[in-house]
Amino acid sequence: MKTKDIIIKITDVSKVYDTSDIETVALKDIDLTVYKGDFVAITGRSGSGKSTLMHIIGLLDLPTKGSYVLNGTDVSKLSEDELAYQRNKEIGFVFQSFNLLPRLSAVENVILPAIYAGTNVKERTQKAVELLTELGLEDHLNKRPNQMSGGQQQRVAIARALMNNPELILADEPTGNLDTHSGDDVMNTLKALNKDGKTIVLITHEHDIAIQAKKILHLEDGRLVSK
Ligand SMILES: Nc1ncnc2c1ncn2[C@@H]1O[C@H](COP(=O)(O)OP(=O)(O)OP(=O)(O)O)[C@@H](O)[C@H]1O
Ligand SMILES: [Mg+2]
Repeated sequence: MKTKDIIIKITDVSKVYDTSDIETVALKDIDLTVYKGDFVAITGRSGSGKSTLMHIIGLLDLPTKGSYVLNGTDVSKLSEDELAYQRNKEIGFVFQSFNLLPRLSAVENVILPAIYAGTNVKERTQKAVELLTELGLEDHLNKRPNQMSGGQQQRVAIARALMNNPELILADEPTGNLDTHSGDDVMNTLKALNKDGKTIVLITHEHDIAIQAKKILHLEDGRLVSK
């Protein structure tokens, strides 16, 4: 595989959380390569470091040691502003708890990342409506999150993640708050996006979810182990 086909290159990364009285080694000597078009599931028990790894991959936090190259850019060389810019441009996030703003409608929630990116109002509203329609939410455009089911809210969150057309989708337990049926819907949506060329990194502790990815990686006490 050529270097340009690599989207995530993590080399010898460790993460230590230093709180006042205790030091937690959350990740230890992680090496991870993700290629464009991959669908990778990262599994592991509670506390094994899954979210910590996702925060590093998603530029929400930096490693204590080691290097991370995202789409050819060594992220350790970026300023706070550059990190935020890369994050907004390259990555779409989907979280367990949806993280929608309660006072905004579905369309307004989906538009948010584009406001930070500075596109014009008409264009971004049109794009949000298109994305929500593709995800089967055309009848819910003006509803607020508390007027929608969990599965619908998560699809709004997926539409928001797609707003800036990122190459990489990071999903941390996206089905964790959903019943089996809505969870299946969300997984089918992610699989369809992967088929369209999006790279997906999915974090889950559920075996049934993990096996739907193309590749499964396992974290144990902060180390990636082969199972
Ligand atoms: N901000 C923080 N400060 C201090 N320690 C932290 C912090 N965030 C996580 N940790 C610790 O790092 C370790 C890994 O946590 P992490 O959240 O990555 O686990 P996880 O695999 O996502 O667990 P879960 O399945 O419960 O979400 C845990 O021991 C946790 O207590
Ligand atoms: Mg977690």
